[in-house]
Amino acid sequence: MVKMIYELLFGFLIICVGLLEFGNSADVTKFGAIGDGKTDDSKAFLKAWEKVCGANDPQTLQIPHGKNFLLQPLAFNGPCKSTIQVQLLGNLVGPESSGWLGDQKDKWIIFRGVDDLLFKGSGTIDGRGEPWWKAAKPKDDTNRPTSLCFQSCNNLQVKGFTSINSPRNHISITGCNRASISNVNLIAPEESPNTDGIDISGSNQINITDSYIGTGDDCVAVNGGSVGIIIRNVNCGPGHGLSIGSLGRNGKRETVEQVRVQNCTFNRTDNGARIKTWPGGSGYVKNITFEQITLIEAKNPIIIDQFYGHCYPNCKGGNSAVEIRDVRFIGFNGTSMSKEAIKLNCSSVCGCDNVALEQVNIKSAVRGKGIEAVCNNARVACQHSVPSVEC
Ligand SMILES: *[C@@H]1O[C@H](CO)[C@@H](O)[C@H](O)[C@H]1NC(C)=O
Ligand SMILES: *[C@@H]1O[C@H](CO)[C@@H](O)[C@H](O)[C@H]1NC(C)=O
Ligand SMILES: *[C@@H]1O[C@H](CO)[C@@H](O)[C@H](O)[C@H]1NC(C)=O
Ligand SMILES: *[C@@H]1O[C@H](CO)[C@@H](O)[C@H](O)[C@H]1NC(C)=O
Ligand SMILES: *[C@@H]1O[C@H](CO)[C@@H](O)[C@H](O)[C@H]1NC(C)=O
Ligand SMILES: *[C@@H]1O[C@H](CO)[C@@H](O)[C@H](O)[C@H]1NC(C)=O
Repeated sequence: MVKMIYELLFGFLIICVGLLEFGNSADVTKFGAIGDGKTDDSKAFLKAWEKVCGANDPQTLQIPHGKNFLLQPLAFNGPCKSTIQVQLLGNLVGPESSGWLGDQKDKWIIFRGVDDLLFKGSGTIDGRGEPWWKAAKPKDDTNRPTSLCFQSCNNLQVKGFTSINSPRNHISITGCNRASISNVNLIAPEESPNTDGIDISGSNQINITDSYIGTGDDCVAVNGGSVGIIIRNVNCGPGHGLSIGSLGRNGKRETVEQVRVQNCTFNRTDNGARIKTWPGGSGYVKNITFEQITLIEAKNPIIIDQFYGHCYPNCKGGNSAVEIRDVRFIGFNGTSMSKEAIKLNCSSVCGCDNVALEQVNIKSAVRGKGIEAVCNNARVACQHSVPSVEC
């Protein structure tokens, strides 16, 4: 009798596990994905996506370990009926630049309109950017794809994986409310053009934490329409540091506010904490805090540049500027490669207001060399800053 009950229970358990396996999860290899790094697995991924996105209860899309899935440009569109977890244990490989199919040219993989998405795993995303970088024209950042885009995805969580060699940005967050990106590694060679780590625009309440970002461009760029951004425990470098902007290109009105950058390291980056705006733009950057920052041979560790970019023929001229105010740089320690360790270059049109520097201790990375601060058109309050800032 007891044995029978056990057997019944056991059987029941197996059925439950079975339901979990097959009912709530979709392994891409069960939908025809091969994972040999050569076969185009896009169709199989889309079939698996249709299944999980259309199901009425929470689902997991599984990308198994030990395989390389070659994917052409792909869009995973929502809304989905229930919540979805994408478990990236294997690797995703981008197509050769010469074999790129379809008309989605500026994005490789995009999730669009998928709320409550959890994208996580120990796998790697390889954008195979090298041929793209070689073909890139100087200053042209429009004809290469971003590896992983999240557009209009609310309550998003992204964590754990490594992205290497994206043709352009590694991750883009656009039009998302409440997202957290953590424990990611984003890697590309120092000289690769425009390979930003994470770009944020038009988004609210985005946290980026506990990550390593070493690429050829900005580690994180906070662009127009962003509010409530927290960047914490990020080790950045090589790259161009952490930028607010650029904003106001081609006369655009753009705004960024409530950004807090905390406990980050800039290791041999071309810039550190940077705010950059174009002459001729409008809007504002306000309530920005950079604190507890470690500098290792960083160039331009603290920089505000209201003269970013050049006036191209279609630039509306220098008679307006994106306003910059309420910016705090607190607790910067370390070394600068450039003589001008602090550069606040604000425009005479509207200047920078209420910029505070506290507990800033920067030394030259080059023995025997001095460092200095330069400042134009900024209202600055200094509480212990080396170099000191006079404006
Ligand atoms: C971001 O971090 C803050 C502070 O730790 C936390 O209150 C908030 O819930 C986080 N937001 C998201 C979207 O994870
Ligand atoms: C600050 O960053 C360092 C190095 O990344 C890390 O070890 C430490 O735990 C962080 N501190 C806090 C309070 O998170
Ligand atoms: C400034 O931003 C912080 C978050 O970084 C927020 O808590 C605070 O309320 C903001 N202050 C103002 C005056 O908006
Ligand atoms: C700084 O970067 C160099 C390589 O460029 C690396 O060897 C070193 O460990 C990094 N330091 C920290 C503290 O991350
Ligand atoms: C900077 O140095 C001061 C004084 O040594 C120390 O109290 C502070 O914790 C350091 N901050 C960082 C971010 O390393
Ligand atoms: C500030 O920007 C102006 C305009 O681009 C430039 O001429 C000047 O050299 C800059 N100043 C510094 C200190 O970089």
